[in-house]
Amino acid sequence: MKILVTGGAGYIGSHTCIELLNENYDVVVLDNLSNSSEESLKRVKSITGKHLEFYKADLLDKEQVTAIFLNHKIDAVIHFAGLKAVGESVTIPLKYFHNNITGTLNLLEVMNDFNVKNIVFSSSATVYGDPSSLPIKENFPLSATNPYGRTKLMIEEILQDIYRSDKNWNIALLRYFNPVGAHESGKIGEDPFGIPNNLVPYISQVAVGVLPRVSVYGDDYDTPDGTGVRDYIHVVDLALGHIKTLPKLFTSPGVVIYNLGTGFGYSVLEMIKGFEAASDKKIPYKVCERRPGDIAACWADPVKAKEELFWEADKTLIDMCRDTWKWQKNNPNGYRES
Ligand code: NAD
Ligand code: WQD
Repeated sequence: MKILVTGGAGYIGSHTCIELLNENYDVVVLDNLSNSSEESLKRVKSITGKHLEFYKADLLDKEQVTAIFLNHKIDAVIHFAGLKAVGESVTIPLKYFHNNITGTLNLLEVMNDFNVKNIVFSSSATVYGDPSSLPIKENFPLSATNPYGRTKLMIEEILQDIYRSDKNWNIALLRYFNPVGAHESGKIGEDPFGIPNNLVPYISQVAVGVLPRVSVYGDDYDTPDGTGVRDYIHVVDLALGHIKTLPKLFTSPGVVIYNLGTGFGYSVLEMIKGFEAASDKKIPYKVCERRPGDIAACWADPVKAKEELFWEADKTLIDMCRDTWKWQKNNPNGYRES
């Protein structure tokens, strides 16, 4: 079985490539390296001792995408490629709509041309907006609060429409909660360009001394300690969720939707404490204003994925902090040499 992984050099994609290779899938990666480095894929090969094909290609260039399908008989696509910074999407929405929507349309058109109609799409818990109750189930109402989230919702709808028009498509919409952590080898992990937007990469850069302190965005939420609560999921558990989705996809289920989360929520202060324990470093922090657009709390009901995919996250907060720290400590500059 040959899987095309778009965005495979990125954070979640590279971890998924490892698990695909471990399961003896043939892997072809398409990535324009706009938010990643080819070094991640070199390390994937060294961790697994297996080969994968890499194409530095852009989904916005349909000819480049077509060339890959001409060279390889693809059985299914796992579609990670996209821009993902929420704040940036508010400032430059057109770039987000163009890259994420047009890129996906090009991919889907080429898949259709080559009669490849199996796709796993990286959606996000952001499509639930501010949920009215917790935990979040897949059938909760959907809404978007920023252009990034809107691209996820639009792509989900595009995929549903494609299936309505042609029942030969099989589509898995995977809604990730908050991916954190790194491969246990410490060789691959999240490597944000510039100052991180997300909590855990920020904490780990404070722990390693690159940044002075964590800004805690509000301690007056209606949560046990007043700080925001999220369902953090280890990236290796998340990657394994994709591995469990593929056999489901090959049973021709039509459109299927799953939350990939742990079902547990941790607060910002609990994450800081967990990281202090894992790194044996004091993490300075300062409570600041709430970040606009943030919700108080969010966690998944992961039961559907457990029942239908036979998947559940089993790594703990300690695993997430320890593996993030190992990656950060061994690679203080990420994949860059200095
Ligand atoms: P990432 O930025 O590390 O990976 C995305 C990859 O896509 C990058 O390697 C980038 O170079 C590539 N890419 C972007 N546009 C492209 C294009 N036009 N053509 C080819 N390659 C392109 O992000 P990630 O954290 O690994 O996220 C993967 C997917 O999961 C994204 O779609 C993201 O929206 C989604 N997601 C991420 C999170 C999260 O918190 N990390 C949460 C929910 C959903
Ligand atoms: C987590 C908590 C912050 C940074 C984002 C996207 C979402 C999805 C996952 C892609 C919140 C607090 C954060 C900091 C802080 N991505 N925080 N100080 O906002 O839950 O989700 O990533 O689909 O769409 O919105 O994740 O890690 O940014 O924040 O106090 O420096 O940490 O307020 O409570 P978020 P996050």
